[in-house]
Amino acid sequence: MKFFIDTADLDEIKEANDLGVLDGVTTNPSLCAKVGVRDFEGHIAKICDIVDGDVSAEVVATTYDEMMEEARTNAAIADNVVVKIPLIKDGIKAIKTLTEEGIKTNCTLCFSPTQALIAAKAGATYISPFLGRLDDISTDGMQLIRDIVQIYDNYGYETEVLAASIRHPMHLLECAKEGADVATMPLGVIKSLLKHPLTDSGLERFLADWDDLQERLKNE
Ligand code: E4P
Repeated sequence: MKFFIDTADLDEIKEANDLGVLDGVTTNPSLCAKVGVRDFEGHIAKICDIVDGDVSAEVVATTYDEMMEEARTNAAIADNVVVKIPLIKDGIKAIKTLTEEGIKTNCTLCFSPTQALIAAKAGATYISPFLGRLDDISTDGMQLIRDIVQIYDNYGYETEVLAASIRHPMHLLECAKEGADVATMPLGVIKSLLKHPLTDSGLERFLADWDDLQERLKNE
């Protein structure tokens, strides 16, 4: 399973990348707004310098022609840019053309299995189902992940399931069990995957016992 970090914050990206298990980055206009990005292309270039894997850079246009222009500009920033395109009619058309041009795409704002099916038919590199946002409105986000994995398996689509809007470690665990190819998570969720109170207390005990042993050896 690939781990992406879901942020535009350069310090967070560096911290996650330093762990050595980061496979990519997803950004979106809200995440860019959160960190006050002024120079979008320059900012994406900085992220691409930090991380070797795929970096999603989202278009803000909503018509085919404008999306294509923006997508080509984003794709030219670095070799590892993936153009993020919203799952709307013109977006699907843009994904089809971009795929034919050899440009990687991440089809975003997916909330239903049929949307995911159309994105795969258009040749999207990634589909991003937003699981947390479905949970927020009392709908089973995990069922969407299950449905997409099954549909893609049925037909052998190569589009990778990129579970997005992940809010806590249980989301990640369920996505891994269901076979999502990628999970994009905030830094806090990535770090929480490491934590277990028995690890902390166990390590404390090991180190205390080791110190006791050193003391005993010194006094022999
Ligand atoms: C990922 O590509 C999405 O931009 C992101 O996961 C959305 O997460 P949110 O629902 O927490 O905003």
